[in-house]
Formats: sequence, C-alpha cells, structure tokens
Amino acid sequence: MKKQKIKIGLFGFGVVGRGLYELLGRVPEANAEIAIVCVRNVERHRTTTPELQFTADPNEVLDAPGIDLIVELIDDAEAAYTIVTGALRRRLPVVTGNKKMLAAHLPELIELQKEMDTALLYDASACGSIPVIRNLEEYYDNDLQISVKGILNGSSNFILSKIFNDHMSHADALKLARELGFLESDPTLDLDGWDSLYKLVILTLHAFGVYINPERIFTYGITHMTDADIRFALEKGRRYKLIGHAEKTPDGRLILAVIPQLISRNKFIYSCEDEFNGVVIKGLFYGKQFLVGRGAGGHPTSSAVLSDISAIRYDYFYRYKRMHSAELPEFSNDISFRVYVRYNTDDDLDLLRFEEIYERYYSDDNRYVVGKVNLRRLHAIREVMAERKIFIAAYPDD
Ligand code: HSE
Repeated sequence: MKKQKIKIGLFGFGVVGRGLYELLGRVPEANAEIAIVCVRNVERHRTTTPELQFTADPNEVLDAPGIDLIVELIDDAEAAYTIVTGALRRRLPVVTGNKKMLAAHLPELIELQKEMDTALLYDASACGSIPVIRNLEEYYDNDLQISVKGILNGSSNFILSKIFNDHMSHADALKLARELGFLESDPTLDLDGWDSLYKLVILTLHAFGVYINPERIFTYGITHMTDADIRFALEKGRRYKLIGHAEKTPDGRLILAVIPQLISRNKFIYSCEDEFNGVVIKGLFYGKQFLVGRGAGGHPTSSAVLSDISAIRYDYFYRYKRMHSAELPEFSNDISFRVYVRYNTDDDLDLLRFEEIYERYYSDDNRYVVGKVNLRRLHAIREVMAERKIFIAAYPDD
C-alpha cells in the first residue's frame, strides 16, 4: 500500500474502537485516519463524537470511496465474520481483534486471504498489546516448538490479583474490571475461560500449524472458585492463574486445555498481575521465553491494532509457515495430570473418576481431593461439573 494517508473504515466504537481513534489523534506518524464508522446506535455516537462520520449500514463503510482498509472491532462474532469476508472479497485488507470469530472461522479465512491475495491481520485478538502472533510467525518459526502457555485473559487475571493481593471480594473485583473496560460485554466469556480458549486456538495455529476446533478443548474458568479454594492456594504458597495451555508431547501429540492452575513462586507467571497477560513460549533449542504486557484495555489493545495497520502499509501478511511443516502434531485429550478439586457430594467425586488420590479433606463445609484425572474425562463432564459448581485447578508438582 503506497498511499500517504491511510483511510480506515471502522466497525465498532467501543473501548478499543474509541481507543484507536484517540491513538490516531496522538500519533501523527501513523499517518492514518478514520474515514467512516459503522455502529449500531448512530445518534449516540454523533452526539459524543460529532467530528466523525457514523453510519449503521455496513455496506456504506465497505463501499466507501477511497477506503484503504477495514478495522473490525465489534462484539458479535457472526456479524464480524460477514464484515471481514465482505471486505476481503472486495480486496480490502482487514485488521480485526475478534478472537471468537477467528477461533471459529480461521480455516476459511486463511483460504479467502489466499484467494483474494489480501491480508487479514489480528495481533490484537490474542494477548492485547503483546505482539505474540507476529513473533510466533516471524521469530519462533525455525525451532522445534514445544509449548505455548500462559495467562491469555486480562480481566480474570485482574480479578484474581485483586482477590489475592487486595483481599477484594469477587463481586467488587468484577465491578472494577468492568469499569476499567477489561471485560467482554458478556463477562462469562472471561470468567469461564472461553475468551482464553479462543486466543489459545489462534496461538496454536501460529505456533504448531494446526487448527483445532474450540469445541474439542477442555475449558474451565474461575467462576466457581470460593474462599475455601483461595485458602488452599495460600496454604500451599501458590496462586491461581487461568492458563491456556498448548503442548506437544514427546510422541508428537498436541495437548490443549484452558484451566485454572496453582502456580508456584518459581514460575515466570506467578508475578504477572492485574490485567497483564504473560505467555511462556518453549522451543527445543532456545528453551523458555516469557512475553509479558497489558492484555486488556482500550489503549493497549488499540496499540496492537495500530501496529497491524502499519504492517498493512508495508504489505505484511501472515504466511502460516507452520501449516506447511512436514509433520503436524495430532490433537489429543488423552493425558492424565494432578489436580485439586473442591466438590460437594460423593457423586461429584465418582463423576471425576480419579485414577489416583494423593490427598483428601472432608468437613461439613469443605471437601477437596488432590489426585490424578484424565483430560478426556474432564472434557466429557465439563457441563455437569459447572452445574454442580465444582472447582478444579491443575496442580503441577513444581
Ligand atoms: N476481555 C478480554 C480480556 C479483553 O480480559 O483479556 C482483551 O481480549
């Protein structure tokens, strides 16, 4: 793209869309401007930001004369898919932050980019301001990748930090996270692990070259964590972090999960607090590297959007190099690992089918077990566990 000033057609004017508008005003070097914005409530936005042109008609943005690229920052994943595919079919490059849409549609979107020879960039979709996708694509593409794991959701990390460090109640921490613009409009996406799951699917594709449908991956969050669970973590000198985990086993299988984990002090991510995300990338030869940065919030996320806008100016596009590897790992849920489970009835315990039990506590108001369970079993009973308000956390030895 050779043009001097980039004209952006923007979809959505929420926390990140507005953040982008503010950033563009403060970074003249970006040499880009928002030409037209598609929002649901045109009148409201015209009142608060009269200098911008708003419309409720998506086609008015997609077909606006002189538009160089589309930035898609709306909530609704299916509407976002229609917008993104509509733009690519018009050969308009797209920058998006919509992790749910990407996690559901990446294979088709990769094909469409190829067919239309038009770029789709989305570094803002995973880990906010951390350039993790671009690094997986460009830097970590030559080593034997072993694992990518870490804190992929800013708001749940913020809530856990406020509970553990400031002794805030779950409800107050949630309220504060909402006020600061960290939460999805449906906060269960953050707290139940779905937002981390979508990001994990995206990162896995760039790290290992395979697309795994989100429905195949065990996903559990922090909604059912209670004071008793917090006490257990403190007694063991650990903290819960909600971890997205992708790891290749020595026999070439790929294990994925989103699950709270009891993290000990010797881990990089133990000190990753508030809305920060932290990703540990492990390769055979470089060992471990830790990327950390703000994972949620208007300005941090819009700075990743701005970086993608600049990349499009220089005709950058993802090559998905890992997808062309000679041997791709096979997805598997067949692995057993140590967990802490706080349960309510003996039926709950039967449900989990522990392979081994290492520790057991039983009183009138608190029951827990530390033992070994299989991931495939957990995936099969996920909904029942949530209905029964069982809390589970991975509990590694170190
Ligand atoms: N709700 C998301 C989070 C926003 O808390 O991480 C950034 O993706």
